[in-house]
Amino acid sequence: MGIPQPAFYIFKCEQSSPPGMPKPSCVREGTQDLFQHLGMKLMEKGLIATVTPVRSACLNRCQQGPVMLVEPGHHMYVELTKEKIDRIIDEHIIGEKPVDEYLISDEFWDEAISPMEAMKMAGR
Ligand code: FES
Repeated sequence: MGIPQPAFYIFKCEQSSPPGMPKPSCVREGTQDLFQHLGMKLMEKGLIATVTPVRSACLNRCQQGPVMLVEPGHHMYVELTKEKIDRIIDEHIIGEKPVDEYLISDEFWDEAISPMEAMKMAGR
């Protein structure tokens, strides 16, 4: 038997805007330690071998930040807090039931466009 794949990857946006930038970003005053909290909770629960947290750059949903994307499944969680992360780990990662009330709304997370379709739209 080989080395098992992770069951989940969790991409936590770690983008911060430079001071004075009007655009909101996921890492700002009061949200700097969410990635550390995520990693610690996964370790405490013995999940770090099968759930891989990844520091990501901007995931293009800055207005709803802090955000994190759980894969597989394209589940985008928004307006994160430590309490929300704890519940996402318990209910989604362990319980395998996404926490619907913390997910981005469909208005901001519509169906993906296939790369082939995107090329056609771009005239390539
Ligand atoms: S800064 Fe986090 S989604 Fe853009």
